[in-house]
Amino acid sequence: MLFDKYGRPFQKLRYVVNDECNYNCVFCHFEGQSRRQGRYLTAEDYGFVTSVFKSLGVADFKITGGEPLLRGDIDLIVANIAKTGAYVTLTTNGYLLRKWVRKLQAAGLKRANVSIHTTDPEKYSKITGVPPSAFREVLRGLTEARDVGISLKLNAVVLRGINTDRESVKNLVKLAASLGAALQFIELMPSGWGASVFNELYEPIETLVNIIFELGGRPAGVRKELHNRPLYNIAGVTIELIKNFSNPTFCSGCTTMRLTSDGKLKTCIYADSSVDLMPYIKSRDVEGLLYAVRTALARREPRFKLYSSS
Ligand code: 5AD
Repeated sequence: MLFDKYGRPFQKLRYVVNDECNYNCVFCHFEGQSRRQGRYLTAEDYGFVTSVFKSLGVADFKITGGEPLLRGDIDLIVANIAKTGAYVTLTTNGYLLRKWVRKLQAAGLKRANVSIHTTDPEKYSKITGVPPSAFREVLRGLTEARDVGISLKLNAVVLRGINTDRESVKNLVKLAASLGAALQFIELMPSGWGASVFNELYEPIETLVNIIFELGGRPAGVRKELHNRPLYNIAGVTIELIKNFSNPTFCSGCTTMRLTSDGKLKTCIYADSSVDLMPYIKSRDVEGLLYAVRTALARREPRFKLYSSS
């Protein structure tokens, strides 16, 4: 396993497999990329690059986008990652989940993180830019995923006036319970379009902690291997809280990097610099790739540090 100079192990990798999306979420951070990069890695490229990362001790791969289910070869991407023995999960808006769920399961997908934010179709429509009927389609996808045995996590970005009242949280917990899913609340990040709506929609995650307590939730430890994320439990539903902006505790527990859709290894969602892996991936140059990954790792800095002025 590799460690950076802050002693943080490099254990997880996010693959941004495209930059197109069928949604228009008002707060989208675009995974820290600017939109429309065009050139993507192939499913075979992902198999190759995963085997190299795996040899370095990275065992956990998260596919994201854009909307990854818009890629016609998403099942092949999953299969090529999974066949290295790696643990592979995927983040999606869920709209196309129903179409893909069986193929993804056969390809070896372990879990889907589905962004849902609210159980109210009207609010859902307002924040995602798709008709309210899309909400039903996502529910169908979730039900089908549960039925074929893909484990599920619901992602809800914390949005003031949308899902920060007791009733909204209760309904999300209920939905998670009915699906046997975990629930993850993500504090809004002022990144991409998140910056434009920040003043209007930001609500500190602490508001949710209070509601979780009121609903009978209790602390259930922290995820030390991933950003020291606090966990809570309400009646069997695990709730994970993500507060990334301006949070040194989060950064000190960061074990992940991301590969952009055009093949650049980024040390952090906020980092401007990156190391281009594309030439080494395309030429199947293992040595070159290993060197480039070590170069990126050497540059790895927590974005938010204790006692720093930034
Ligand atoms: N702040 C927090 N979370 C965001 N997401 C997208 N944009 C933002 C933002 N500005 C969420 C998506 C998805 C996860 C990958 O990140 O909704 O659930």
